[in-house]
Amino acid sequence: MKLILLLTNMMQLILLTNGFFLLDKEKVIGDTRENCIETRRPFSRTICNALSPFSNLDGTCNNLQIPIQGSALTRVARFIPSAYARDGDTPVGFPFFSVFEKIKNDKITGIPLLFGNALFTTSVSPSPQEISDNVFQVINRDFVNPARAAHIFMTFGQFIDHDMVIIEGEPEKCVKKPRCQTLDDFKFPCNPILRSTKTNRGCNFFARSSAACDVNKGPRDQVNQLTSYIDGSMIYGSSLEQLKRVIGLNGQLRTSRGNLLPFDPENERPCRKIKGCFLAGDIRVNENIALTSMHTVFLRLHNIYATKLKQVNPRWSSNTIFQETRKIIIGILQNILYSEWLPLATDLSPYRGYNPNVDVSINNGFATAAYRFGHSLVRNNFDQLDRGFNVARNQVPLQNAFNNIAPLLQNGIEETMFGLLVNDSKRVDIRFSEGIARRLFIPPGSKGFQNLAAINIQRGRDHGLPSYTEYRKFCNIGPNIVRSFDDFSGQINRRQRDNLQRIFGSVKSHIDLYPGAIAERPVRGKLVGPTFGCLIRKQFENLRDGDRFFFERNFKFTQLSEIKKMTLAKVLCLTLNQIVSIQDNVFERFIPGETRRKSCQNADVLDITKFKQ
Ligand code: HEM
Repeated sequence: MKLILLLTNMMQLILLTNGFFLLDKEKVIGDTRENCIETRRPFSRTICNALSPFSNLDGTCNNLQIPIQGSALTRVARFIPSAYARDGDTPVGFPFFSVFEKIKNDKITGIPLLFGNALFTTSVSPSPQEISDNVFQVINRDFVNPARAAHIFMTFGQFIDHDMVIIEGEPEKCVKKPRCQTLDDFKFPCNPILRSTKTNRGCNFFARSSAACDVNKGPRDQVNQLTSYIDGSMIYGSSLEQLKRVIGLNGQLRTSRGNLLPFDPENERPCRKIKGCFLAGDIRVNENIALTSMHTVFLRLHNIYATKLKQVNPRWSSNTIFQETRKIIIGILQNILYSEWLPLATDLSPYRGYNPNVDVSINNGFATAAYRFGHSLVRNNFDQLDRGFNVARNQVPLQNAFNNIAPLLQNGIEETMFGLLVNDSKRVDIRFSEGIARRLFIPPGSKGFQNLAAINIQRGRDHGLPSYTEYRKFCNIGPNIVRSFDDFSGQINRRQRDNLQRIFGSVKSHIDLYPGAIAERPVRGKLVGPTFGCLIRKQFENLRDGDRFFFERNFKFTQLSEIKKMTLAKVLCLTLNQIVSIQDNVFERFIPGETRRKSCQNADVLDITKFKQ
């Protein structure tokens, strides 16, 4: 018996150290480059208007050396080369189809059969759900683990995410509730997340991101549909087509009753049918009520400045009003992001001016793992407060906040925004709210299970992210050669290391970036650990240094100091109905009895006369 065990262990070791072993008859089901996305073709700078003071909506011509760089519909870049299980395409953890083929009539009668025998099972990476079960915790209370940040930090972070990146696939091609009993459920683009690789406990929906069409047939890459630049894509869109849907008269943006966002006549996203959806520059605007409220704040800000600019520059055309207003809004967004929001997350090097050699493209490790640290910040409930920051009505549970514009239609955005100012964000750690890690997008009362933390891991594999250990190396963290989980001790506590070891077995195996890095202790005084901190820092430095229109160099001196005055607190003073007072730095955690609020009446806000021509 002992001998058999020893032999099995040895075999397992050989298989693990060899990585992913190949079987003769392996095949991927379906054409994985089917419906690939054609990326924008390079073009000459002579087409660009190099003297225009305004950035193009689609991000082209910002970089005059490579005019398509950072524009919508370009490839997602990589800090380090991709790591797929095989062929530069198949994700880590994808089932072995030669084993499937053994099963009569394509029917699977149980997961143990699915993988044939124990040896196959050991070679398969743990499923993201198993990783989640072992490494993450799901919490349904909100007082656990407050971060140094207020909940509005979370929402502004998501708002900025939707300025930089969306990577899409064709989810409609996969059954919503797969059971993983037939091969069909694994046909491209579907790669459902098995609840367990050892027992037949079902699986969850997951659709792969579309590939960039690749004439050279290199490793699979993904496509960003938005401009990478911080340029208000979520407000204005990343194409003229989208802008046309949101723009109104006189350089203003369209609104609906109550100074809310306009309605979307044809949203294909899953908004609750009765009330419909709002429309904005980004398709995800209705994803939760806090995000929708933040969109509304910047819509109102745009319209306030468009009106004021027209007053001081009566001769300007609607188009000039729009462009000049957009420029101011982008400046304010960038100022808030770089001087108020980012310092809580991680430190950046000082700005040394524009560098056209910096590639601003969004990186895969950033979009698919590091910047998703925000998912750990999300609370289970959104307080609804009045202008005195007292309870106005019952909290809105996260599950009720998804794709549901009813609370905003009924009560406006104010109660949600006041709640975000007082509620703490959760800490960035291995704990996730139930509405994120169990009941994502599942309306209250309905059955279902969806785990965003597991989706993040599966997405990392889908995009070929290298292992956590590779990213540590890239960021110069810890020993260069990692021999055991104890080599992570400088960054990850004992308990989390044990959890990682239990599920991944060896440091040589593919430790997914998301669970590895989110388990790190935050850097002192910051919200994230060193690996995510490094990836976030590099990305935002690139977006700053490689942006020819970065606000620090895009305004006259007198105008720049007006832009720099505009904190998010002042933006809220201008845009929220009935607001009386607010704390200076809204991103820092509000501590009752300690944090002071200042009157909005005396707020020193942007002086539009400085923008008179
Ligand atoms: C209630 C809050 C939030 C919800 C419900 C939510 C939900 C989601 C969902 C469903 C996805 C797509 C996952 C996939 O299929 O791969 C996603 C992607 C993403 N989320 Fe969140 N999110 C929230 C907040 C945040 C925050 C606060 C941040 C950052 C600070 C963030 C950053 C990202 C990023 C970077 C992506 C990838 C975008 C892309 O590449 O297309 N999210 N989120």
